[in-house]
Amino acid sequence: MRMVDIIQKKRNGEELTEAEIRFLISEYTEGRIPDYQVSAWAMAVYFKGMNAKEIAVLTDAIVKSGDQIDLSPIHGIKVDKHSTGGVGDTTTLVLGPLVATAGVPVAKMSGRGLGHTGGTIDKLESIPGFHVELTREEFINTVNRCKLSVVGQSGNLTPADKKLYALRDVTATVDTIPLIASSVMSKKIAAGADAIVLDVKYGSGAFMKTPEEAERLARTMVSIGEEVGRKTIAIISSMEQPLGFAVGNALEVKEAIDTLQGKGPEDLTELSLVLGAHMVHLGGKASSYEEARSKLEEIIRTGQALDVFKQFITAQGASPEAIDRPDEHLPKASRIEPIRASASGYVEQIAAEQIGVAAMKVGAGRETKESAIDMAVGIVIHKKIGDRVEAGDVIAQIHCNNEENLEEAAAMVQNAYQIRQNKPVQPKLIEKVIVTSKP
Ligand code: URA
Ligand code: CA
Repeated sequence: MRMVDIIQKKRNGEELTEAEIRFLISEYTEGRIPDYQVSAWAMAVYFKGMNAKEIAVLTDAIVKSGDQIDLSPIHGIKVDKHSTGGVGDTTTLVLGPLVATAGVPVAKMSGRGLGHTGGTIDKLESIPGFHVELTREEFINTVNRCKLSVVGQSGNLTPADKKLYALRDVTATVDTIPLIASSVMSKKIAAGADAIVLDVKYGSGAFMKTPEEAERLARTMVSIGEEVGRKTIAIISSMEQPLGFAVGNALEVKEAIDTLQGKGPEDLTELSLVLGAHMVHLGGKASSYEEARSKLEEIIRTGQALDVFKQFITAQGASPEAIDRPDEHLPKASRIEPIRASASGYVEQIAAEQIGVAAMKVGAGRETKESAIDMAVGIVIHKKIGDRVEAGDVIAQIHCNNEENLEEAAAMVQNAYQIRQNKPVQPKLIEKVIVTSKP
């Protein structure tokens, strides 16, 4: 088999055979096919696409390029959640304790953030003492005992995806559905999920700019799930503005605690309830979505999930007081800089990506893999889409610890806001729920 023939076939819009796809992935992982040939192939995929069968084989080949985690010693159905890139997306922090309290085990392998999107591990590490370095045995025991554990990625999971993603990043071939879908699903499958709930975002801050494109990506991922026997559900949600109010590590932990007490932002609460209810339903702890949802509403009303949150962070080195009294125990910024509305009117849009980049500029995120992050800093949104503002009102606050980049970040936050005379229509937070690959 020759790579040049595979490239030519795809360039001409033909279907690749299973053997060709497996050859490409295994030989590339082993370093026997050069980057330039795989770049040409990725570009051919960008223009010609792949069918459902090809995408399922590609996903399976990526899964088999490395280790697969065996979560079978954990009791129950393991349901994992994935969001396709959010800014200030605090849902994982809310969902872990919420869904675990409803009885679904959450065994989460997570990553650190890079660029303008934050990583769940970074956020949790803003809790003093919290660590993610658990042995496999400790991880499994913690999930069986507390129903919830979050660890860093260990082992050699989906090495083909690591190489391919890095290559796509520099060859303008990231934003193509077959390659995004196989990349995301291969990681969830390799990490041992029995069932998968996906939050596919669309909008200015997301890979997919329209709900229609997001739906195509969602159906493709659901179809992979069908092919490989892992029940998959996707919701299509809007990223026309950052989710919730807080963007930044400790700020988001505080926001998650508030949300689990029923005092959180409306959009974050709603999205967490919808995603969580699908997880609880797939996890077999409710007989319908509606039953799962009322169970979760009750958990929020009574604040029960905070107990699980405390047990979980205690098992991973932190003190439960961080959850009881976050204002005393979580790191706080030394300076809070208000950003004021430049005109009167209604907030029409808040460019989520710009808010994310501004948060990174003041130290909440990593510009490069080596950058250190400041757990205390970030941005708190005060006005959201549809809110009335008068010129000079505080629309957001920057929490920071020094002046470095502050001016630049302040300008970015200000420019992220579009204020108009007319009251805009509220964007729908959740556009659709996709449960099968058939349109
Ligand atoms: N996230 C991923 O993990 N992979 C992609 O291809 C795009 C987003
Ligand atoms: Ca948030």
